[in-house]
Amino acid sequence: MEFPFDVAAVLGERVTIVDQHLRPAGRRGPAHRGDLEQQLRTLIDELGKASAKAQGLPAPVTSAARMEANRHVLYILRDAEGPRVTAKGAVVGFLKVGYKKLFLLDRDGTQNEAEPLCVLDFYVHESLQRHGYGKELFQHMLQSERTEPRRLAVDRPSEKLLAFLRKHYGLADAIPQVNNFVIFEGFFSNRPAPA
Ligand code: ACO
Repeated sequence: MEFPFDVAAVLGERVTIVDQHLRPAGRRGPAHRGDLEQQLRTLIDELGKASAKAQGLPAPVTSAARMEANRHVLYILRDAEGPRVTAKGAVVGFLKVGYKKLFLLDRDGTQNEAEPLCVLDFYVHESLQRHGYGKELFQHMLQSERTEPRRLAVDRPSEKLLAFLRKHYGLADAIPQVNNFVIFEGFFSNRPAPA
């Protein structure tokens, strides 16, 4: 996705981590700080809209305003090299995660209260899907959050995301739930009880 401003100046790193404060580390460039903040807001809003469209959702679940209102973390991947890169740079996609208090059923159907890290939104630009960028984002998130795939809960995964999790992480054995979250075998193993 291209923007009418310098994406590298707004985002800094190849994978940029943005939290509630909408202030990514490692920015560069001469633009005024206020401009950069506005550009980051525009970028997040546009990514959220593109993701919603790709998933057929009636409204985006990711926006700058929602980021400010929640303790979610966004991982945004930009194109660092290759023929597609223009002078202003481009955004490849993003992954949003956050902790949520959930009631989740184990294999026996017993309800457990947990506060897992949840995959909340995930999008790679249509022209770049199935090129490994989703895996790059996901790996970056796993390392940064110091977690493993089986520890995650996934909010309403699309068929593409289910295929992705199966292919890259062997997550195929979902434990049925009564909410919109999907968890997999191993979720409850050696998990510390909530405080
Ligand atoms: N059809 C089926 N499986 C797909 C597709 C597709 N069109 N695209 C990706 N996958 C899965 C497959 O397992 C694929 O492996 P394969 O090509 O060998 O079959 C694997 O993902 C490819 O891995 P990556 O290249 O690393 O993944 P990608 O860069 O395509 O990112 C993502 C995966 C984010 C799911 C991307 O396909 C996408 O943006 N899809 C549309 C939006 C979407 O469905 N997002 C998830 C919403 S649910 C949520 O966020 C909680």
